[in-house]
Amino acid sequence: MPDIDQYIESNASRFEEELCEFLRIPSISADAGHKEDMIRAAEWVAGQFRRLKLSPEIIPTAGHPMVYAETPTVSGAPTALVYGHYDVQPVEPLDKWISPPFEPTRREGNIVARGATDDKGQLLTHLKGLEAWMEVEGRLPINLKYIIEGEEEVGSAGLEKFIAEHSDKLACNCVVISDGSQFAPGMPAVTRGLRGIAYYELRVNGPNRDLHSGSFGGSVTNPINALASILNGLIDKDGRVTLPGFYDDVVELTDRERKELAALPFDEKEYFAQVGVDGAIGEAGYTALERRWARPTFDCCGIWGGYQGEGAKTVLPSTAAAKISFRLVPNQNPAKISAALRTRLAELTPPGVKIEVIDFHGAPGVLIPPDSPYVEAAARAIEYAFGRRPVFTREGGSIPIVTTFHQKLGADALLIGWGQDDDNTHSPNEKFSLADFHRGIRASAKLWEELAQIQL
Ligand code: BES
Ligand code: ZN
Repeated sequence: MPDIDQYIESNASRFEEELCEFLRIPSISADAGHKEDMIRAAEWVAGQFRRLKLSPEIIPTAGHPMVYAETPTVSGAPTALVYGHYDVQPVEPLDKWISPPFEPTRREGNIVARGATDDKGQLLTHLKGLEAWMEVEGRLPINLKYIIEGEEEVGSAGLEKFIAEHSDKLACNCVVISDGSQFAPGMPAVTRGLRGIAYYELRVNGPNRDLHSGSFGGSVTNPINALASILNGLIDKDGRVTLPGFYDDVVELTDRERKELAALPFDEKEYFAQVGVDGAIGEAGYTALERRWARPTFDCCGIWGGYQGEGAKTVLPSTAAAKISFRLVPNQNPAKISAALRTRLAELTPPGVKIEVIDFHGAPGVLIPPDSPYVEAAARAIEYAFGRRPVFTREGGSIPIVTTFHQKLGADALLIGWGQDDDNTHSPNEKFSLADFHRGIRASAKLWEELAQIQL
């Protein structure tokens, strides 16, 4: 594909400029104050298709709009559905950013901004892989459909509903997603598995008002103390989650998979050093990589209550609360987890407080068969662009809609992330390597050619 590669090379700096333009839109889906920015970001994506003379649709949802576009029909050729998300996570804590989150900055070969890797930069590679074909050849060798949503970071409710009602429109042979990581720098990967998630807010309500902790402490249950002991009771001394039946549906790692994971060049000490810790606790009997990718977990994502101001205030607060999540593995069912959580909380809640559970998003885990022609096509495209055959990995994160694609469209996902583990996703100073951005574009353009070879 010399002409296409040449086009990608000679337009590289414009592609970076466009990435920066996209990153300047503060499309934070969780924050209602950014509703207009969400529309602007959707419009920006639609503009990418319009410049190629395609006719994108902006599809409204109860939340943020989605963008849909498709290329002219190539009969007899496979159809790939490209999925990505233009929404980003909140940016707090702001004071930890070296440069403002929505002022993209080049630093050490990376672009630093919220959304750089998750997912605007990665998503853009597939828009540019499309552009290269359209501008150079005037056509694609396969059928492409794009569905770009604005609610991934808040659970994908709008897209879920859309697929339930319009699965025909998205019918495809495979789904292409770049919203994850390579295994390491210079080690691209095809991701075979994602964890699922079940997310809740827990509220603990105690006395009808804040009380003097001297006058009342020890005689009235303190909601913060109660919350601490409840959270502690959700994991046992071996690091196992204590919800009834929690492990019943878990698909265990096979010996072969454990060997494959162990064969990846992963140094636990280096891994801990990278995040600045000197060790960790976790589920007994599993390596750090197994715990991350293939074991279910419990984490508290936020906790509050009581006095947080300067100095000391002796108070027994009336309420406390936490945001908690379980990461799930394939075959665990989020609805069953919700029921089991309520059962377990009833056991753990001491007298004197009442507990309230609010359900947020839930999604099952995903496991993708390794030996499909689509995976092989992706491996070839990656090798072409990155100069090395990909390794097979899993990821600890979740992309809720992938299961729905599988169940409702009967299509498996090609999870080909161009990011790195240390890209600071969801955290301050998110970044994306510009070299990987350009390699990703080349791999995308090559992928369309490779997929076109597949006999249906
Ligand atoms: N890009 C991530 C998913 C991801 C994370 C893939 C890490 C590979 C490694 C995605 O945008 C994300 O953050 N998903 C959320 C989903 C949740 C809000 C339902 C997640 O995993 O927390
Ligand atoms: Zn994310």
